[in-house]
Amino acid sequence: MTWKSALLMPGLVATVLTGIGAAGLQAQDAGKMDPGKMMEGATRMMQEGMKTMRQNSMKADGNAAAQKAAGNVDPRTYVELPPEIRARFLATMRGFMQTLDKVSGALAEGNFAEAARIAEDEMGPAHEMMKKLKKMQATPQQVAEIKKRARERFAQVVAESGDKVRPGIGRIAMQVLGKPLPGMKEHKRTAIGPHLPAAMHRMGIQLHLNAADFADVARKVGKQPTVEDYRKVLSAYQEITGMCVACHDAWRVF
Ligand code: HEC
Repeated sequence: MTWKSALLMPGLVATVLTGIGAAGLQAQDAGKMDPGKMMEGATRMMQEGMKTMRQNSMKADGNAAAQKAAGNVDPRTYVELPPEIRARFLATMRGFMQTLDKVSGALAEGNFAEAARIAEDEMGPAHEMMKKLKKMQATPQQVAEIKKRARERFAQVVAESGDKVRPGIGRIAMQVLGKPLPGMKEHKRTAIGPHLPAAMHRMGIQLHLNAADFADVARKVGKQPTVEDYRKVLSAYQEITGMCVACHDAWRVF
């Protein structure tokens, strides 16, 4: 888990802030502020925070306790999902893997515009309604507006700390299109988000935001990509894969 993605976990945010604060106070005592020391303090507190968080999630999780008794220590928090939701969740995951593979392929060909398009349409904010929007012949302006407003809404949602996560992207689409998307009722019934713990849901939403950020970076690359361009694009790409890793480190559904 990278420090950036770890920061997304609410338990850690407080600990890190305390860590920076505590190190800062110590430095003040010594009569100087040392940014290196402050970050050191923050990192230490974060590591301790992650340890406590893991221990807490183990305590809260009877399944994990049973596993531990059996000698299998799995520090991830178990999330119970209804079987059909779990199947959809895992299918979505396999879809993300395919998307990453396609993005990698486009990058290998030096086709940055295509890499951006795939990441945004298959993994960006509002990605799950792209096919529907095409089918109902939404204009490119409408699609762009929905993507933009979904992204803004997602950014708000990950910044919130409550235990309810309600992105309301369907409502945004309805406002932009002037009519509801077909199959909204069906979508409500099969939506995965409402079944996820808020912290996990936010990590998923952050993944979509990182995909949109990647698309921005990839689109900026000109006709003659430089080494620096590749570096920036790969760094944005790692912000995507870092979210996959962070979430996989924290949760399990079996
Ligand atoms: C919101 C959290 C989250 C994010 C973000 C996430 N995953 Fe997952 N993923 C999971 C969980 C939980 C599982 C199930 C793991 C388990 O129970 O052992 C899983 C399982 C998978 C699987 C196995 C699917 C199967 O059929 O068993 C694949 C492949 C996968 N993820 C790929 C990805 C990729 C690629 C990304 C990033 C682009 C990603 N995931 C991002 C939570 C997440």
